[in-house]
Amino acid sequence: MFFKPGTHKDHGFRHDPFKAVISPRPIGWISTLDEHGTPNLAPYSFFNAVCADPPVVMFGSGGRTDGTKKDSQLNAEASGEFVCSIVSHAQRDHMNKTSVHLPHGENEMPPAGLEGLASKMVKPLRVKGAPVHLECKYLQSVQMPCWHESRENWVIFGEVIGIHIDESCVVDGMVDVLKYTPVARLGYMDYSEVTELFAMDRPD
Ligand SMILES: Cc1cc2nc3c(=O)[nH]c(=O)nc-3n(C[C@H](O)[C@H](O)[C@H](O)COP(=O)(O)O)c2cc1C
Repeated sequence: MFFKPGTHKDHGFRHDPFKAVISPRPIGWISTLDEHGTPNLAPYSFFNAVCADPPVVMFGSGGRTDGTKKDSQLNAEASGEFVCSIVSHAQRDHMNKTSVHLPHGENEMPPAGLEGLASKMVKPLRVKGAPVHLECKYLQSVQMPCWHESRENWVIFGEVIGIHIDESCVVDGMVDVLKYTPVARLGYMDYSEVTELFAMDRPD
């Protein structure tokens, strides 16, 4: 089967399969502070690491249909900082609740039953109970094409300047992903959890 993006319905797909084929995707749980210091938290599954020396992460933000940017992007750009917490299986429902569209300046943590923890290098809070937190210094935003005139697509990059790892996830000096259990986003409303792994040595 071959089709051009946007024509999936002509090929029998009920929904655009793009996100289902780019899966699993890690979820960056992005916390920021607004201009008054109010915390903001939202999950982003257009999220990944892009290089390691120094470590840099990105999240992709599709703007709102009224043309405004989402709060995570606005706050990261204005404050120059964000924290990325990693969602464990135990916090999957809390994560989902924080995707609610609250007005700018409203904190998603309390209604989702979450508490913030102070960070070490930046001001935005970490999510208490998350196994890993990446404290990030905002680097730049890059605008992507967008099919819709009233919306914008952006990628926001940040350099990781501090890393917290829950010690229960570390075994013999290595992160044990089976203890860490990061939740991944699949297509549609589906998610996955890492429950088994295999290793392969590189040829050279
Ligand atoms: C698992 C999950 C992943 C999401 N990933 C993205 C994403 O990559 N980009 C995006 O723009 N919105 C994504 N969303 C939707 C945002 O979380 C949602 O629009 C949120 O209200 C944005 O909040 P903010 O304005 O506080 O940043 C995702 C939602 C969920 C539940």
